[in-house]
Amino acid sequence: MHEINNIVILTGAGISAESGVATFRGPDGLWEGHRVEDVATPEAFMRNPALVLKFYDERRASLKGVQPNAAHKALARLDAEWDGDLLLVTQNVDDLHDRAGSKRLIHMHGELSSGLCLSCGQRSTVTDDFSNDPACPHCDKRTLRPDIVWFGEMPYQMDKIEQALKKCDLFVSIGTSGAVYPAAGFVQTARHYGAQTLEMNLDPSDGSLYFHKSRMGKAGELVPAWVDNILAD
Ligand code: OAD
Repeated sequence: MHEINNIVILTGAGISAESGVATFRGPDGLWEGHRVEDVATPEAFMRNPALVLKFYDERRASLKGVQPNAAHKALARLDAEWDGDLLLVTQNVDDLHDRAGSKRLIHMHGELSSGLCLSCGQRSTVTDDFSNDPACPHCDKRTLRPDIVWFGEMPYQMDKIEQALKKCDLFVSIGTSGAVYPAAGFVQTARHYGAQTLEMNLDPSDGSLYFHKSRMGKAGELVPAWVDNILAD
């Protein structure tokens, strides 16, 4: 059996679904009533900044009413107890992995609780609504936008992620539709460099055929069982 020391885990909206956070590609194809292109592109922000700022203010406010679920907690336990290398890469902009206690974590698509200054380029934690036009704590200009990687923008820390994918023994994808690159291509990179690959999702993702193994079901059930297993081995 393939010895596992080094794990990379990718999560998507499906891991937060059981906490009550809406996924992006629901049955109606809308994200909280909006087309993704109307709220998650730089063009949308230029066209209608008030709508985009209000949308992310609402998403950030809604985090107060949700809690990490069994899947987030299991991954935090794995992070704490796994002696080998581990990297959790999330596409999610919620803070549920952080609140569950994961430390070796990259938010590749940004974070709802962060602002990006259009003047100085610095990122900072936001405590006030973007709609109130708060000042950037670094340069004092009132030019903060949501620190979200929109379509057409470069995800965060891609160098570090690529390095981890190339040297991992196991790549695990949880709760993502596999519709958005570059994250959708991680399985192929990891597999190309020799990793075993496992998918856990409610239904087969777009990239399902690239995985050695697929487990279909709810993250809140599948992930704790998988973590128990891998820590016991
Ligand atoms: P999607 O909404 O595209 O996919 C969520 C996946 O989770 C689907 O395949 C669902 O079947 C699955 N799912 C739903 N409930 C689940 C559960 N309880 N347990 C396990 N799986 C479940 O979300 P993402 O793949 O994360 O980007 O979307 C990727 C990116 O598209 C997002 O990060 C976002 C969006 O545009 C940005 O905002 C930049």
